[in-house]
Amino acid sequence: MIVNETLKIIKQRRSIRSYKDEQIKEEELQAVLEAGLYAPNAGDQAWHFTVIQNKELLGRLNLAAKEAAKQLDIEFLREIANNEKYNCLYGAPTLIIVSGNEQAPVPLEADCAAATQNLLLAAESIGLGSCWIFFVLLAFNSPQGSELRKELKIPEGYKPYDSAVFGYKKDAVVNVPERKPNLITYIK
Ligand SMILES: Cc1cc2nc3c(=O)[nH]c(=O)nc-3n(C[C@H](O)[C@H](O)[C@H](O)COP(=O)(O)O)c2cc1C
Repeated sequence: MIVNETLKIIKQRRSIRSYKDEQIKEEELQAVLEAGLYAPNAGDQAWHFTVIQNKELLGRLNLAAKEAAKQLDIEFLREIANNEKYNCLYGAPTLIIVSGNEQAPVPLEADCAAATQNLLLAAESIGLGSCWIFFVLLAFNSPQGSELRKELKIPEGYKPYDSAVFGYKKDAVVNVPERKPNLITYIK
């Protein structure tokens, strides 16, 4: 089996849900962002990255997302939202939202997802913890949603498709779920 640094990082990355308070270093943030900018994209880089490192604003995003989740038909999301202790950002000091231009000639979902995966892999490669976070995007469906969009300076016509949190891992050991068998068909 071929083993190299890239393959090791891909297998090693896990969603981290417990973070130290300490902010990540600026050079670490820049390395992560640059990896995002180099992701494959069908929309000619019609994406936008929003970095949020303001603790008070992160707290408001968590609360707004939980309020929006309480109104959903999806029971497990309502249950999570009703748990007062649940912080959908897990106390991470940095959140990056990846938005796509809704006027782009191709749908931007895949572009933003590819960029987000690059952010996560870059983070792992420099020893940062990360977690892809859908939940916080619910904040934009809350009553404060349009105000939050303005405050975050998300460009007009752009939709927040993905987001992820970053920080220093609190716990060194995380559970690695077994890979399911029979997920690949070979036709030769
Ligand atoms: C599109 C997407 C959205 C996700 N949203 C959340 C989320 O809101 N909260 C969360 O804790 N994890 C979220 N995750 C992380 C998944 O739960 C996680 O990747 C999965 O359980 C596999 O674990 P691993 O990342 O450690 O391999 C999301 C992952 C993806 C790809």
